[in-house]
Amino acid sequence: MKFRKLIGALGAAGLLCGVSAQAVQAAESLSVLHWWTSGGESKAVGVLKDDMTKEGYTWKDFAVAGGAGAAAMTALKTQVISGNAPSAAQIKGPLIQEWAEQGVLVPIDSVAGDWKKNLPPEIDKILHADGHYVAAPFSVHRVNWLWINKAALDKAGGKVPTTWPEFFELADKMKAQGIVPVAAGGQPWQDLTLWEDVVLSQGADFYKKAIVDLDQKTLTSDQMVGVFDTVRKIETYFDNGRTGRDWNLATAMVINGKAGMQFMGDWAKGEFAGASKTAGTDYVCAPVPGTAKQYTFNVDSFVFFQQKGSKEATPGQLALAKTIMSPAFQEQFSLYKGSIPVRLGVSMAKFDACGKQSYADEQTAIKAGGYVPSLAHGMAQGDATAGAITDVVTKFMNSTQDSKSAVAALANAAKTK
Ligand code: BGC
Repeated sequence: MKFRKLIGALGAAGLLCGVSAQAVQAAESLSVLHWWTSGGESKAVGVLKDDMTKEGYTWKDFAVAGGAGAAAMTALKTQVISGNAPSAAQIKGPLIQEWAEQGVLVPIDSVAGDWKKNLPPEIDKILHADGHYVAAPFSVHRVNWLWINKAALDKAGGKVPTTWPEFFELADKMKAQGIVPVAAGGQPWQDLTLWEDVVLSQGADFYKKAIVDLDQKTLTSDQMVGVFDTVRKIETYFDNGRTGRDWNLATAMVINGKAGMQFMGDWAKGEFAGASKTAGTDYVCAPVPGTAKQYTFNVDSFVFFQQKGSKEATPGQLALAKTIMSPAFQEQFSLYKGSIPVRLGVSMAKFDACGKQSYADEQTAIKAGGYVPSLAHGMAQGDATAGAITDVVTKFMNSTQDSKSAVAALANAAKTK
C-alpha cells in the first residue's frame, strides 16, 4: 500500500485523531519489527535483544523474512492500521519522513543529546522529522561491493577486476572452470542492487543526477542505455535457478565455491563470517568495478511508534534508542552484521580487512563527493518513486526488453511521486 492510501486508512481507523496521553509503564514489553532473519543478521539483532533483556525489558520479536524489507514493510502497515503498532520498527531513509508525516511516531530527543556531533551530517539529517530525532541509527552498510571466492579467483589468474572489461574476462575464466560466474537472487530489490552498482560505475555525478535528482536528461542519455546493456551482459553469467532465490542463498553459493562472485551489500560478510570464512584468505571483497572511490551508503535505523495513544516515547523505547547508539553496541552489532559503526569515533581495531577498507573508503568518498545514498536500500527516494524504478529494472532483467525501451520506461517511472 502506498503512503497516500495509508493516510486514508489510518484516518478511517481513527488512528490519526488525538488520543489523550496515558501513563507509561516502567519496564514494558518491547515489540520489535525487523527483517533480520539470515544467519549473520539474526546474530547481530540478537545482541540488541540480549542488551534489552539485561536492562529488564521483554523482547517481542516480529521478524518478517525477506531481504531489503519489502514484506516487513507490508506487515508493518497492517499492524499500524489495525492499531497494533510495534514499539519499534526497522525503517530507514526518506521512509522515516513518510511515517513521521502520518503523526504516529514519537520523538527521542531526550536520549540524543550527543548524537549530532557523533554522526556524519548526511546521516544525522535523515533521522529527523520536524526538527526532532525520530530514528536511531545502527550502522553503515556499503552497497557497492563485489564478493569473490578466493580459490576461484586464484584459479582464474588472481586479478581482482577494477573495470567492466576485466570483470567479464574473469567471469569467462570462471565459466571455463565449470562454476557459475555470478550468483544472483531473483528478487526485485536484488535486481535493483545490481543496476544501481552499474549506474554508480559511471561516476558519482552521473549517479547523483540519475538517482538522487532524477534528472530526465541523464535518465534518457546514451550512457544510461549503456548501463542497461552492461546489466544485460552481466545476466548472461547467472545460472538458471535464480528465480525467487534469497540473497543469502546466493552468498552461500560463493562461500561453497559453486559460484565465483556476487554483487551484494556488506551484510553478505555476516554470512561469510558465520561460515567461519576469513576475508583475504577464503574470500575477497572488492568495490564493484569502476566504483573504488564511490560509496553507496545504507543506514539501518529504528523508528518508534506511539503506544497506547501517548505522543511521548516510553522508557523502553528511549532505552532502546540509547542502547542502539552506544559505542559498545555499535561495535558488536557491526562485527556480526558486516557493516561499520555509524557512530563516529568507535574503534575499528576488531574489524577485518573488509571492515577497515569500508571505513577508509567511506572517509575518502565523503571528502571527494562520492558518498551517495542507495536507491535499492531505501536511502535515495521515497516509497512510490523507488517502487516505480524497481518495477522497470526488474521487468528489464526478467524479459528480453531492449535497453532503449527500458530507458524510456525509466524516465517515465522517475516522474512517479
Ligand atoms: C538492510 C540490511 C539487510 C539487507 C538484507 C538491507 O536493505 O539494510 O540490514 O541485511 O537488506 O536483508
